[in-house]
Amino acid sequence: MNETQRILQLRKELHEHNHRYYIDNAPTISDQAFDALMDELMKLEARHPELADPNSPSVRVGSDLSHEFNQVVHARPMLSLGNTYSRADVEAFYQRVAEGLGGAPFEICCELKYDGLSISLRYEHRRLSLAVTRGDGAIGDDVTENVKTIRTIPLELPADCGCPDDFEIRGEVLMPWASFERLNAEREAREEQLFANPRNAASGTLKSKTSAVVAQRRLDAYLYYVYADELAHMPHFDRLHAARQWGFQTSEHIRLARSVDEIFEYIDYWDQHRRELPVATDGIVLKVNDPAQQQQLGFTAKSPRWAIAYKFKAERERTLLREVTFQVGRTGAVTPVANMDPVLLAGTVVRRASLHNADIIRSLDLHLGDYVYVEKAGEIIPQIVGVDTEARSTNPALGAPVAFATHCPECGAALVRYPGEAAHYCPASSTCPPQLKGRIEHFISRDAMNIDSLGPETVDEYFERGLIHDAADLYQLRVEDLCGPDRSRLRSAQRVLDGLEDSKSVPFERVLYALGIRFVGKVVAKTLARHFRSMEGLRSATPEALLEVEGVGEAIATSVYGFLRDPANILLIERLAEAGLQMEVQQKELVSRKLEGQSIVVSGTFLFHSRDEYKQLIESHGGKNVGSISKKTAFILMGQDMGPSKREKAAKLGIPLVSEEEFLNKLGNG
Ligand code: IVH
Repeated sequence: MNETQRILQLRKELHEHNHRYYIDNAPTISDQAFDALMDELMKLEARHPELADPNSPSVRVGSDLSHEFNQVVHARPMLSLGNTYSRADVEAFYQRVAEGLGGAPFEICCELKYDGLSISLRYEHRRLSLAVTRGDGAIGDDVTENVKTIRTIPLELPADCGCPDDFEIRGEVLMPWASFERLNAEREAREEQLFANPRNAASGTLKSKTSAVVAQRRLDAYLYYVYADELAHMPHFDRLHAARQWGFQTSEHIRLARSVDEIFEYIDYWDQHRRELPVATDGIVLKVNDPAQQQQLGFTAKSPRWAIAYKFKAERERTLLREVTFQVGRTGAVTPVANMDPVLLAGTVVRRASLHNADIIRSLDLHLGDYVYVEKAGEIIPQIVGVDTEARSTNPALGAPVAFATHCPECGAALVRYPGEAAHYCPASSTCPPQLKGRIEHFISRDAMNIDSLGPETVDEYFERGLIHDAADLYQLRVEDLCGPDRSRLRSAQRVLDGLEDSKSVPFERVLYALGIRFVGKVVAKTLARHFRSMEGLRSATPEALLEVEGVGEAIATSVYGFLRDPANILLIERLAEAGLQMEVQQKELVSRKLEGQSIVVSGTFLFHSRDEYKQLIESHGGKNVGSISKKTAFILMGQDMGPSKREKAAKLGIPLVSEEEFLNKLGNG
């Protein structure tokens, strides 16, 4: 056997061993023997780069290459589920389904609701070709390389397994409790910040830029929905069984229920037993089993009518409140934080909880030394939900009622409270250190300028050394400032400067977001950038002009207008412009002006182009994409599965519906 044949043989064997180990739970060789085969394969592959296979079992080991993520439009939008919290809600759902199906019999597939992040996997010719995060539901990040390191996700499926050639399967990527605990223990030892829960850890990991990191962290995945033309008539429950036969990990705990009582049995069982599972769950998902009935019930704008999530009640513990401290954020908002005796809650140790604002402290009537009840909302953020007032009479350590700080704990300025707002603010925005640092940290963050060679620790260090006070100072940094007297940190200094240089091509909408204007998140920044086209345009906008923009209300308009009139901000923007940052939208050449002045809504899924491509097409012909239908809408470019509420609204306002073909003909692209 030559080396080429040996490589192919090793790959085949390792794929099979993976299946036996991860899916059948019945390995036929020892871990050492497996590692030895993998070792042999990797050595041979290194010698034969011409035989590289993106789906070789060796990709499970990950690579050190760093990659940014491409954005991918989902073939079908990734919707979320409606949430319910009570039995009454579950009964109401059951009733709605029964009525929607006109009294016909139906089955409900009961499943665990896995608490990780959703993923869409595409297989082409039985090989994993694409893995995409949910993103905003319409567009997600291409995380294929990272997902390939998850061992329970097959890279290719056996030819005789009976799966369709091409299909999409969706599920949840999770970090098992065991991996999570190990990871946090390692981080604690390195004095790194701990992950609050397995979901955050899984999400942070999956978005990691090096797949080798992902490989080490041992993620897992459960698949819960299959889309394939060939299986259009197969019930959901059977599809999941089929997917398991093909080699996917699906839950062993799915059950069919034929009455609401059977659903409650399932819920009650898992409310008790879910802590025995190796992964985090936060509820139960109920799905109508029959695909024809699913179709009959359809979707609302946000979620299917044929499925719902029942969330488990949050866990609650009692502990002692020791102290309340105050934190200052980049906007100057001061957050009170409760410091408590450590308590184990839903698998993590809780020591601190945000108290949000003075009103909440008052409504809880908190005293220092109180015994308080802590819950995790959605099992993520711990929250104090009440006080054990009965314990007070026998509590010798009970102290005074908790009072809100009157002065900034960081800079000493007297705090202010604006009319109608719950928060207290430190007004010293141009001198208070955590505000200055916080704004710089926001400026460099991933969704803003994405300068990933800088992090909060480096910002802190530069700030303490007096090198930077604001974002514009970053662009004045010189290599000799950063690399230390002995030039030992030359390489990292150069990386920082390179990152800053690269950021000069970050588009205007993200520069606008990076400024950290109150109420201007990513979406609003994008809307404003597209509308006003440049910083100049935005600065000359009157409050009325701002209010005319779709999605901009009083609070945003006032905040933007005020920000752009503050001399300190004007100076900052001028210095950033001088440094070479993008202060206007890059003009794209128009292909034609056929759609000039027309506001167009794109809705549904399409055959010939993706939704995003249609949006670009509209812009390139001078048209404007808008999200919602109004009387100003010129027409709706209508794909398949356009929601019924949109249809209704269009009919009511008399807005024409234009099909894909008609639209392409209109532009002469047909
Ligand atoms: S079904 C249209 N099944 O819960 C069907 N989702 O808001 C949509 N999830 O984003 C999802 N376990 O990430 C489904 N067994 C399960 C699930 C599940 C967890 C997540 C999923 C989704 C969210 C629902």
